[in-house]
Amino acid sequence: MNALPVDTRPPPRAGRRRYLLCPPEHFAVEYAINPWMDPAQPVDRGAALRQWEGLAAVLRGLGHRVELLEPEPGLPDMVFTANGATVVAGRVLVARFRHPERAGESAAHLRWFTAAGFRGVRTATEVNEGEGDLLVAGPRILAASGFRTTAAAHREAQRMLGLPVVTLELTDPRYYHLDTALAVLDHDRIMYYPQAFSPASRRLLRRLYPDAILARAADAAAFGLNAVSDGRHVVLPDAARGLAEQLRAAGFEPVPVAVPELRKAGGGPKCCVLELRSEGGPS
Ligand code: ARG
Repeated sequence: MNALPVDTRPPPRAGRRRYLLCPPEHFAVEYAINPWMDPAQPVDRGAALRQWEGLAAVLRGLGHRVELLEPEPGLPDMVFTANGATVVAGRVLVARFRHPERAGESAAHLRWFTAAGFRGVRTATEVNEGEGDLLVAGPRILAASGFRTTAAAHREAQRMLGLPVVTLELTDPRYYHLDTALAVLDHDRIMYYPQAFSPASRRLLRRLYPDAILARAADAAAFGLNAVSDGRHVVLPDAARGLAEQLRAAGFEPVPVAVPELRKAGGGPKCCVLELRSEGGPS
């Protein structure tokens, strides 16, 4: 995109992060807005809650601070807090969901951020699904369009969050959000599944990140790219075993978790985690 603002902040270090999570107390698959969702398939909410608690415990165990958003009845996808906003240097761009089924989540995020004392909290005017499609990658935001977030929302995010936005195009409906096909590992390293992107976006990613970890089809389908990295530990689904080995070989510490019940809604660990980046550092 044109007229990119320049980011002069030093690269953040691996360290303690602040995350927003929401317990899946009202979790269900009542509608199908991505190919993984099948309302005819039974969902075990107790299992979802236990798996989610395991994820929260892992994040706390790594030394991170976990904040909680109050779950609301009638919003069965609310556990996926990553979609509710994007936070950069204390500035908050609250999401505007593509599907009416999730629209109510925006107001819940807006209330939480306002009550938590964040300044400059705005709701997007364009369709924008937060960190589902906008991933802060050091000096830039990697942003996807194709299924949910629009290119106009990328321009709005660049304006509102003050970081240059790189637009990527998703083409495989199974990878409908950027965080299902790409994960930011640290200030300048990423991992991704090339086949989820258009040929032009693949070329762009190759040019920007020649040393990226490339996921294989089986690990991508296991939601291995739906991972949360603090710059050293990478929390990812336990089924993505090949990717865990690739991460280890690249000097990261894979931390496997199991959230198969949430997968029935098309979500993994990263979808459940929204990073709250403060003014002074990553979180
Ligand atoms: N059922 C949700 C949806 O389709 C899942 C969202 C998963 N979140 C994510 N960050 N990919 O919107």
